[in-house]
Amino acid sequence: MHNAAFAALGLDWCYVAFEVAPVSLRTAIAGAQAMNFSGLNLTVPHKLLALGLVDVLDESARAWGAVNTIRFEGQGDDGIWRPVTEFDAVDRGRPTQFRTHGFNTDAEGISRSLVEDLGVSLTGTRVFLLGAGGAGRAIALRLAFEGVRELFLTNRTASKAEEVAAEIHTRFPGVRVVVGYPTEPVDLLINATSLGLKPGDALPLDLARFSLSEVRAVYDAIYRPAVTPLIAVAQAAGCKTANGLGMLLHQGAKAFEIWTGCPAPVAVMRRALELNIYGR
Ligand code: ATR
Repeated sequence: MHNAAFAALGLDWCYVAFEVAPVSLRTAIAGAQAMNFSGLNLTVPHKLLALGLVDVLDESARAWGAVNTIRFEGQGDDGIWRPVTEFDAVDRGRPTQFRTHGFNTDAEGISRSLVEDLGVSLTGTRVFLLGAGGAGRAIALRLAFEGVRELFLTNRTASKAEEVAAEIHTRFPGVRVVVGYPTEPVDLLINATSLGLKPGDALPLDLARFSLSEVRAVYDAIYRPAVTPLIAVAQAAGCKTANGLGMLLHQGAKAFEIWTGCPAPVAVMRRALELNIYGR
C-alpha cells in the first residue's frame, strides 16, 4: 500500500520489509538511520521493545505503550528538528544531529476504520469487545479515549480482561467498564481475539449468551480471511459488518503522513491492499 501511495504522489520512495531478530532491533534502527532512511514501521514483537530504543516518544506512543512507526529526524543550524527527508527536499544543508522519533498509529487506525467502514462514531455508545490481548487492550483503550459510554469486555483468560478494565478505570474514569457479557443491546461488537484466523476456528463468543439481534454493527479485527465465521453469522443476522482491513489501511495511512508530510491517498492504498491480500 505504501509503494502504491508513493507512486500515486510521484514520490521517488520505496517501502521494503526486513525480518529482524529482537536482539538486533537496536542495531537495525541505527543502521536504517545511518543509511538515511525516512522512517520505519515495526510489527510484532518489536512494538514494545522499541519504546525503550527511540530518542523521543510522541504522545501517541506514550499513551498506547507501543511504537509502530519511527521517523528519522535531523536538527538544522536553526536548532529545529525536522524529518531528515526535508533536508534533502529543500537543500537545508546537512543536519548537525540526528534522532529517532517514535509514534503509534494503530490506535488511530481503529477509530478511522470504525467511522469509515461502519459509520460508527464512538462517543456515547455501548460496545462489547471480545479479547484483551495485545490488540484487544489497544482497542479497549482507544474506545475509552474516544468516549464510549459503556464497555463490556471478555477474554478467555479473565484476569487479562480484569487488568484492562482496571487500567481504563484509572485512565478514563468516565467510562463504565464491565467484565462479562452485556445483558442489554449494544451498538457495536468487536472481535479482537485471534479466533477466526484459522480454518475451523470456533466463534469468539457464545451465541447462547449473546444474540446478534442485540447489536447493530459487528467489526472483526481479522482481515484474512475476508469473511470470518463471526462476520458470516453477523451478516446472516442482518448486522452491518466490517473486517480489520481498514485498521491495517489507516495505521498505514497515518504512518505515511508522518513520514512524508503529505495527505495519504487512502483510496489508492486500500485498492493496493485488496489486490495484495484478496487478489481482487
Ligand atoms: P494480539 O496481539 O493479536 O492481540 P495476543 O496478545 O496473543 O495477540 O491475543 C490473542 C487474543 O486471542 C487473546 O485475547 C487470546 O485469549 P487469551 O488472553 O486467553 O490467550 C485470544 N485467543 C486466542 N486463542 C483463543 C481461543 N482458542 N479461544 C479463545 N480466545 C483465544
